[in-house]
Amino acid sequence: AALLGFVRAMPKAELHIHIEGSLEPELIFALAERNGVRLAYASVDELRAAYAFTNLQSFLDIYYAGASVLLTAQDFFDMAWAYFLRAKADNVVHAELFFDPQTHTDRGVPFEYVIDGLSRACAQAWQELGIRGELILCFLRHLSEEAAFATLEQARPYRDKFIGVGLDSSEVGHPPEKFERVFAAARELGLHAVAHAGEEGPPEYIWSALDKLKVQRIDHGVQALRDPALVQRLVRERVPLTVCPLSNVKLCVFKDLRQHNLGELLAQGLVATVNSDDPAYFGGYMNQNFVETFAALELDAGQAVTLARNSFEASFASAADKARYA
Ligand code: ADE
Ligand code: ZN
Repeated sequence: AALLGFVRAMPKAELHIHIEGSLEPELIFALAERNGVRLAYASVDELRAAYAFTNLQSFLDIYYAGASVLLTAQDFFDMAWAYFLRAKADNVVHAELFFDPQTHTDRGVPFEYVIDGLSRACAQAWQELGIRGELILCFLRHLSEEAAFATLEQARPYRDKFIGVGLDSSEVGHPPEKFERVFAAARELGLHAVAHAGEEGPPEYIWSALDKLKVQRIDHGVQALRDPALVQRLVRERVPLTVCPLSNVKLCVFKDLRQHNLGELLAQGLVATVNSDDPAYFGGYMNQNFVETFAALELDAGQAVTLARNSFEASFASAADKARYA
């Protein structure tokens, strides 16, 4: 119990949070009402009851439907602000937020509304909560390379409002190399690069995220343990893994939390971090992920300190911020 209090109170960075995945059912209904959007569910309870997933795709279908209520810059601000309030409660002092512009621009929402609302929330989080918030633009990997290039082009005028690019959505059948050229173009703009790999997909996708996309972190990466040569490389190069324990259980990557390999990832010397992924859908924010995982895997204070340190090392915080957090 003392350990869990320590874990809750320690300052931490969150590096794997899809801001659209922080949209709580109550806010989905409030925004639907405000914007006159029709939902396929009659009530908050009915919507929540649909959150029973069998794999990544079964989640994504509902997640994209939920995002359909987001229309104005104010909607994006309200969603991100609600997240920052939750982050504050969990003593998250630095957060790098993924956003999926294609989910919105494909519905006719201007890219400008998305980035304006989100970046205003980040500015206010720093001013009022002392939380550093940064944005990472994710390409949807089930869509084409051409569509990803068009998105990068739309984003160029707002280059100073986000710090990197990522790759998310349906993994299996959409290997990283499909986006080699668009990641090269993004890196050319000085953007950081990360990618989801080894969530459901094979270790080969982690290799190609590193070699073809030249990413600085792997999102999830829990399948890496299937490949000892890959583990060796990740350890040697200190490539961080942004692990999301509650997500992995909800999407049936592990049967239950006691089967999760976070303890083993740390034991092998990997730079693992704990993150919430899509907290409104998977049963909790940062501290819920920490507390449930620590209880299930019987982790200790040393591992808590390692995870917090890893989160800052793995972050794209400035050198000055990293020194403050050390
Ligand atoms: N988009 C939102 N959450 C995701 C996840 N866990 N994997 C891939 N794409 C996502
Ligand atoms: Zn994710």
